[in-house]
Amino acid sequence: MSAPNKSYDPVEVETLKPEEIERMRDEALAAIASAADVDALREVKVAHAGDRSPLALANREIGALPPHAKAEAGKRVGQARGAVNQALKARQEVLEAERDDRVLVEEAVDVTLPYDRRPEGARHPLTTLSDRLADIFVAMGYEVAEGPEVEAEWFNFDALNIWADHPARTMQDTFFVQGKEGGKDGEESGVVLRTHTSPVQIRSLLDREPPVYVICPGRVYRSDELDATHTPVFTQIELLAIDEGLTMADLKGTLDHMVQSLFGDDITTRLRPNYFPFTEPSAEMDMVCYVCRGESVGNPDRPCRTCSSEGWIELGGCGMVNPRVLIACGVDPQKYSGFAFGFGIERMLMFRHKVEDMRDIVEGDVRFTLPFGMEI
Ligand code: DAH
Repeated sequence: MSAPNKSYDPVEVETLKPEEIERMRDEALAAIASAADVDALREVKVAHAGDRSPLALANREIGALPPHAKAEAGKRVGQARGAVNQALKARQEVLEAERDDRVLVEEAVDVTLPYDRRPEGARHPLTTLSDRLADIFVAMGYEVAEGPEVEAEWFNFDALNIWADHPARTMQDTFFVQGKEGGKDGEESGVVLRTHTSPVQIRSLLDREPPVYVICPGRVYRSDELDATHTPVFTQIELLAIDEGLTMADLKGTLDHMVQSLFGDDITTRLRPNYFPFTEPSAEMDMVCYVCRGESVGNPDRPCRTCSSEGWIELGGCGMVNPRVLIACGVDPQKYSGFAFGFGIERMLMFRHKVEDMRDIVEGDVRFTLPFGMEI
């Protein structure tokens, strides 16, 4: 900065010459005009209107001028700085408006775009297994049949040869929806939550002319507590084949084919005598343990948790359809015979996939179902 000097003429101070002030102003205006955005303009502002800008420095020189020259120089510099500040302000407004318009376009959110934030679920392994079983039979020409879960007592028991005081009826703890009118036998049937899928056998025979080949998956109910091994709601799969000349050998071959499709070619079944009112003779069916293949039996060095070292896994009940059932459905037992079987799918799911607690199957937690993935 120059020191005060009384003999000073303003035109002699280089930076205060009118042309020089004009040049500074024009340079500033040109820079302002060419600033492309708000950030560039901020830099222009520092360079041309800041404390160390040429015009600010020139302004400081005024103090060193003789009093008579101060006013004129002050006016000149003041006007130039005023013009620059005005131009800055105007350009700032223009650039801010441009920026806002651009941001509105570039950062626009399309609120109409579809979105999906729900985590993906999975099919329940019971459904997958039930479909898989049904597919095995559909491939052999069977038809999938369904019946109601709220079922007439007549279909659930009577037509299946389980009459009112039949001991088998107490084997199945039943949820009653509506009692039998007047407690009498006969026409008036009570209403129950079906205790097994066997009533679909009756419905299928009443609906169709033989030959009948049906597979019936579905939910069934019994008044059990929910714990690690029981559930009041579970799933069964029922099979019925009625044709001319069907024998127990056909039943055995069908069971073998089913377990081989699911567990491997060398897995077979065995039948143990049992009693069911709707089949005669009746049997309990077991399959060879697909984990140890019987090698754990009598072999303490190689215990098998899947079959408890028994070598066999119990699947369900089966037999030749009782002629009484055929008669109840209007089918001639002299001409037709057939076989049936039924079993719970939860049990199969448990040993097939090492599910140890029944509650995991019924609770519907996706953390249980997800790891099963999709089975095709
Ligand atoms: N309905 C029987 C139950 O729930 C299972 C059963 C046994 C089904 C023998 C059948 C069969 O079709 O033939 O315990």
